[in-house]
Amino acid sequence: MPSSSPPYQMSSPVHGTGRQKSHFTYRQLSLLASYSTSSALRVIAHIDLDAFYAQCEMVRLGIAEDQPLAVRQWEGLIAINYPARKFDISRHCTVTDAKKLCPNLIAQHVATWKEGDEKWAYHNDAPSHIGTHKVSLDPYRLQSRRILALIKECLPQNLQKVEKASIDEVFVDLSAQIHSILLERFPELTNPPPYDDPTEKLPLPPVTALDWQADALVDLDDTEAEADDPDWDDVAILIGSEIVRDVRAEIRRQLHYTCSAGIASNKMLSKLGSAYKKPNQQTVIRNRAAQHFLSDMKFTKIRNLGGKLGDQVTSTFGTETIKDLLLVPVEQLKSKLGDDTGVWLYNTIRGIDSSEVNSRTQIKSMLSAKSFRPSINNLDQAIKWLRIFTADIFSRLLEEGVLENKRRPKTMNLHHRHGGQTRSRSSGIPMGKTLDERTLFDLAKHLLNQIILEGRVWPCANLSLAVAGFEDGVTGNMGIGGFLLKGDEARGSKTTPRESSMESSANEPPEKKRRTDNPSIQRFFPKRETSSGGDGEGDLDGSEDTGHPRDDTSGRPTTDSRSQQTPITDYMCSRCNAGLEDAEALQSHLDWHFAKDLQDEERGKPAFASKPASAPRGQKSTCASSSKKPSRGGSSKLEYGQSKLKFG
Ligand code: CTP
Ligand code: CA
Ligand code: CA
Repeated sequence: MPSSSPPYQMSSPVHGTGRQKSHFTYRQLSLLASYSTSSALRVIAHIDLDAFYAQCEMVRLGIAEDQPLAVRQWEGLIAINYPARKFDISRHCTVTDAKKLCPNLIAQHVATWKEGDEKWAYHNDAPSHIGTHKVSLDPYRLQSRRILALIKECLPQNLQKVEKASIDEVFVDLSAQIHSILLERFPELTNPPPYDDPTEKLPLPPVTALDWQADALVDLDDTEAEADDPDWDDVAILIGSEIVRDVRAEIRRQLHYTCSAGIASNKMLSKLGSAYKKPNQQTVIRNRAAQHFLSDMKFTKIRNLGGKLGDQVTSTFGTETIKDLLLVPVEQLKSKLGDDTGVWLYNTIRGIDSSEVNSRTQIKSMLSAKSFRPSINNLDQAIKWLRIFTADIFSRLLEEGVLENKRRPKTMNLHHRHGGQTRSRSSGIPMGKTLDERTLFDLAKHLLNQIILEGRVWPCANLSLAVAGFEDGVTGNMGIGGFLLKGDEARGSKTTPRESSMESSANEPPEKKRRTDNPSIQRFFPKRETSSGGDGEGDLDGSEDTGHPRDDTSGRPTTDSRSQQTPITDYMCSRCNAGLEDAEALQSHLDWHFAKDLQDEERGKPAFASKPASAPRGQKSTCASSSKKPSRGGSSKLEYGQSKLKFG
């Protein structure tokens, strides 16, 4: 069936002249309206804010656009605007180094919660008070929400599908909107297909040249001639680029932010496109240009290939380039990397990605944590921090509509670290009355008191408070099962028969669809993060890259030398010492522990037993490796990769 061919092939021009018909069928056109991932005409955009936190500060402070500015967290930098990047300042610079490179640099510290305060604020003296302040990214979350809301406002209400992928980026599936515009602009498309047969080819578009305006168009494959007339995929993507240009202009006009965008036939390509030309530009990757666009690239730039998996591929096949990897037969990829990963890689480097834009990415848990250096020594100090954590979490709950009873968390969990030992306590959050900050605070104190009863707890090196098990208002019944992937979902394409042909795996993954976050890929994350060392940026996975680099950065144990190299992105799990790449990954990871605790509790295991923080090596890797062999049996067994917690 034509729709099962890879999109880039669909647009391959027929060599020779006199082509009368489009490559695309009436069915493929109509599939656009339902965002079908099997429509070869689909158009996905990825929009990513330029130097996001830095822009937030520039907009907030009304700073001139050409003024070099970086956002500082203690002595490190977490965002650098484009004027400052000209001075070679990067996230790995310290404030002192950056100022040497550019004496005129404004290094604005992030907002902080001050111990004992009820609200975060921009404190001038924050950098010298790492012990008593905790970073707040609330200002950026707020801007992120405003931008997201505006993007949604710019798109037709009934024809939009927007997925928030991280604090500063979204995927937009433009297919349905484009479908409606196509029918409007080209009424001949509304005619029924000849013989009423939807597999009939469409007429060719009545256009011979398309106006791409200022878009960066990536070059075509050598074999593809620009002279070939546009087909409907070109027209669709052109309409997509017009929509995105308008959205970007509105963000600029109304909120004063610049962003970059990629427009392509799937998420992977669109994400690569938005990073291709920055700042303030958009890149269109037409189907006919996709292969060429990819082949010159290192595969480590692709989502999920930046870290451990990428390293493994590089060493196994002795290359970093997609061009070389394209020569490797799928059977070889499968035998070296496992069936799932092999097939996934085979497709990915060919520009094939049928993952859906998912508009329902609701927050499943929230975490607020602080590592203390020096450690804190008494209950009073700990309670002050609990107050901040609950205020922090509550302010985020407000945005989730907790007061309107739209969504509320069901459980609270507190982790406490003392002398290499982590203790944890969980409790249900009382239902019934509207949740308020006081209730959360009292509950957190109660959990702390329970931990204190256990024995020696001071000095304390880390406290971490989380709420989870979100339910929808009155009708909600989403327990833990709701925020863990169900067995089949989690196993993903593992249920694909081994012998399934390449074509079917590549093009018909709709049900057992390959998820880029499927467990077989996911299993590489914790280790990858550990190994990513100081090389932050390039390694970051798209949807998790920037998340919410919360204050946990100060949580690096002094025994961990990596922390010295990566002061900003080094996140350690206080329970199993796994190194995570960023706060979002850490949060996900901690929530996995949390969910597992809850699950154990449901099964009657000693749920809240203390766990050694410095687990022996073998045990440490269970944290990472438990996902290697996802359970085939009960669907309720929780595996690392099953966590689908997503943080807004
Ligand atoms: N961020 C962070 N730590 C990281 C990665 C990102 O704190 N390891 C923050 C940055 O402060 C950044 C935001 O998350 O502003 C978005 O990250 P990203 O899109 O990767 O980079 P930008 O700073 O937005 O720069 P670019 O223009 O390249 O997108
Ligand atoms: Ca960005
Ligand atoms: Ca980003």
